[in-house]
Amino acid sequence: MLPLVAKEFAGWTQVWAPAKVNLYLRVVGKRPDGYHELATHMLPLPVYDTILARMAPTLSLQCDDPTLPVDSTNLVMKAALLVSQRHAPDSGAEIALRKRIPHQAGMGGGSSDAAATLVCLNHLWNLGLGKNELASMALELGSDVPFFLGHGPAWCTGRGEDLTPLATPEAGLHLVVVKPSEGLSTKEIFARLKAKPMGAAWRADADAETGSDFNFKQAIAQSAQAVADTLRNDLEGPAVQLLPALANIRAELMAAGAQAVVMTGSGSAMVALAADATKAVSVGQRLMLARTPAGPVAVFVASTVPSNTD
Ligand code: C5P
Repeated sequence: MLPLVAKEFAGWTQVWAPAKVNLYLRVVGKRPDGYHELATHMLPLPVYDTILARMAPTLSLQCDDPTLPVDSTNLVMKAALLVSQRHAPDSGAEIALRKRIPHQAGMGGGSSDAAATLVCLNHLWNLGLGKNELASMALELGSDVPFFLGHGPAWCTGRGEDLTPLATPEAGLHLVVVKPSEGLSTKEIFARLKAKPMGAAWRADADAETGSDFNFKQAIAQSAQAVADTLRNDLEGPAVQLLPALANIRAELMAAGAQAVVMTGSGSAMVALAADATKAVSVGQRLMLARTPAGPVAVFVASTVPSNTD
């Protein structure tokens, strides 16, 4: 993935905000601060929202998706208010959000929009904020936001913000992402999880790598087939309880010829691995026609390129 880049076109500063999927997500436990400690793999997906901004006397947001709020509950507005309050109290901007990543999908759309807004306003207002300041504001906005300031696939621990680059197999991963029309709330999924509370020595537990983590990391250094054997998401149980149709989507994907299926993040999108790019398209086409109880689905097909941690 390319780093988030701010470009100027026709008087607007523009930043493209990619989606992500998680191919592995282990919940280590519930921390004393209420968040869950995670060991997870995040992979950028070439599906993009766009953030556009230009100078204006005050801050405002418009969005081409009328189902989304444009007030301070929108992560884009939250990010803009944070930058403005902390670094540019006298600056304003007219911001436009073009939404293409489904929301409540576990595909990181809101988090990516927030990261892109930080980068966009840093450029528009000529603030010169460095990596560390951007990363710290990113984590204030949400656990997944720092990932989107990075440059590619990563192994993520902590709440998801401690990032180590983790390359995908040279031969590529061929992905089919299926999002049912119903979404899921991250907060609600974590609340239903009933994770083991971490005691006073929770940082030691957080650092302890399990055999399962080790196997996934080995697999992703090897081959797509090895990755298919080690996919995991501990949030899938509570998600299927809330949205049983996810089990049908999994079954449809496997029947269509997927190698393996896993939910991404807190759902509701499901990710399948296919043997090659042609197979991924045929799995995607079959899912477009599938009649799942979750109603119509959105389907995305993508392949990773070799050594894309740069
Ligand atoms: O960090 P973010 O605001 O995106 O998280 C939304 C909610 O998901 C949090 O309020 C928390 O309930 C839950 N969460 C968690 N542990 C994480 C990430 C999120 O418990 N690592």
